[in-house]
Amino acid sequence: MAVSRTLSIIKPDATNRNLTGKINAMFEDAGLRIVAQKRLHLSKAQAGKFYEVHAERPFYDELCEFMCSAPVVVQVLEGEDAVTANRTVMGATNPAEADAGTIRGDYGLEKGRNICH
Ligand code: CMP
Repeated sequence: MAVSRTLSIIKPDATNRNLTGKINAMFEDAGLRIVAQKRLHLSKAQAGKFYEVHAERPFYDELCEFMCSAPVVVQVLEGEDAVTANRTVMGATNPAEADAGTIRGDYGLEKGRNICH
């Protein structure tokens, strides 16, 4: 499998709880290299555009509000099959269903506050 890159976002629930370093360590332990990252505050328009695919879902407005509620850390992760490696280390979308040892399993509180994208 070739080396590839994927987008990652550490969400406001994680930056509020000062978890960025712990989450980055989990990415690195999973074989992913953080080749770029920036902490920034998303605008409502940026969040709305990013999650446009969910625009018809009942949680869309709440999701966009949440993503603008505090800084996020946007990242480029690099590694062997980076998309799969990232999904594996993040765990299931719903933290209640995520395995222990995954980012969402260890730190996520609920579906809408699931630490990372
Ligand atoms: P993410 O990986 O950022 O992709 C879309 C996000 O929508 C997802 O993580 C969750 O945070 C959120 N989401 C998905 N389903 C629900 C739901 N049923 N209720 C609230 N938020 C949800």
